[in-house]
Amino acid sequence: MQAIVAREPGGPEVLELQEVPDPTPTAGEVLVAVSAAGVNRADLMQRQGHYPPPPGASSVIGLEVSGHVAALGDGVSGWSVGDRCVALLAGGGYAELVAVPAGQVAAPPPGADLVAAAGLVEVAATVVSNLDLAGLGAGQVFLVHGGAGGIGSFAVQYARSLGATVVATAGSAEKLDYCRSVGAQHAVSYRGDWVAEVRAAAPGGVDVVLDNMGAKYLAAHQELLATEGRLVVIGLQGGTKGTLDLGALLAKRATVSATSLRGRPVAEKAEICRRVVERIWPLLADGTIAPTPQTVFPLAAAADAHAHLESGDNLGKVVLRVGP
Ligand SMILES: NC(=O)c1ccc[n+]([C@@H]2O[C@H](COP(=O)([O-])OP(=O)(O)OC[C@H]3O[C@@H](n4cnc5c(N)ncnc54)[C@H](OP(=O)(O)O)[C@@H]3O)[C@@H](O)[C@H]2O)c1
Repeated sequence: MQAIVAREPGGPEVLELQEVPDPTPTAGEVLVAVSAAGVNRADLMQRQGHYPPPPGASSVIGLEVSGHVAALGDGVSGWSVGDRCVALLAGGGYAELVAVPAGQVAAPPPGADLVAAAGLVEVAATVVSNLDLAGLGAGQVFLVHGGAGGIGSFAVQYARSLGATVVATAGSAEKLDYCRSVGAQHAVSYRGDWVAEVRAAAPGGVDVVLDNMGAKYLAAHQELLATEGRLVVIGLQGGTKGTLDLGALLAKRATVSATSLRGRPVAEKAEICRRVVERIWPLLADGTIAPTPQTVFPLAAAADAHAHLESGDNLGKVVLRVGP
């Protein structure tokens, strides 16, 4: 099959389309003929050599795909060759074929075309698992950074569907408008005094923060959290090491958690996929959540797709079209 291979750690130019051996599904796995693959920020880190695949995972980059079932490993039931599907992966997505544990394969959202569906499952799984973990609910204040990004725009809409008040940050006027258009009641430029603006928007504090920045914003988030607030770190774009004021946390009875999806046990990922189908797909089907805009590149142009995501100009998701 053809797949994108990173020649060595480096910039987008290290990504090359190469002929590599087809994967074979082992017991409990489904072989997916890939139609499209979502491009995620974690892919950029893997290409740079900072985010190696977990043990046993494909070294080919790519955490999510859509496509058709091409073959079944022993013991897989509930799927037939030719079924349309999406899959959450530990790796291997930028390729014509990928083998994945059956629990991480799901039917696409009703009515979604396969290119659009490729960019949904990683985002949906990340958002639903983290906002459920944080117990975000009606009447609470939710802060998400990068509200026009892949994760952010989805998180804005899911939080609104839960009845939360949403404050979203973004880096340009166009992206702030987009945050408002998907439902953020407050859109705040992270290039200005965003802490003061969030404080003004949420004088009682923020109940849940979905944090892509890590260290750089740790002090601000501690200050902004409401009593019993929850800071959920999912990204480290602003570094890994900061100072946590335990006294401030204790006084607020606040919680800090940090999670990643990729390295979780297969059974946990299967449970998250089940929740995505049960809770998120109906919200997409009835229009409560609109799929975010997509910029589509052919598989062979994976380097351009990475450069585009890295540039910061992107709105919504970047997707690689792989098959027909
Ligand atoms: N832990 C997990 O399981 C998991 C899973 C998936 C993703 N993630 C993480 O989630 C984050 C978002 O991923 P994505 O796929 O949605 O990537 P993305 O579309 O590239 O989004 C990145 C976002 O970061 C925002 N940003 C850049 N600089 C910022 C700053 N100084 N302050 C606040 N926001 C800033 C950008 O906002 P503008 O575009 O407005 O500049 C953009 O929306 C990444 O950090 C990724 O690693 C974690």
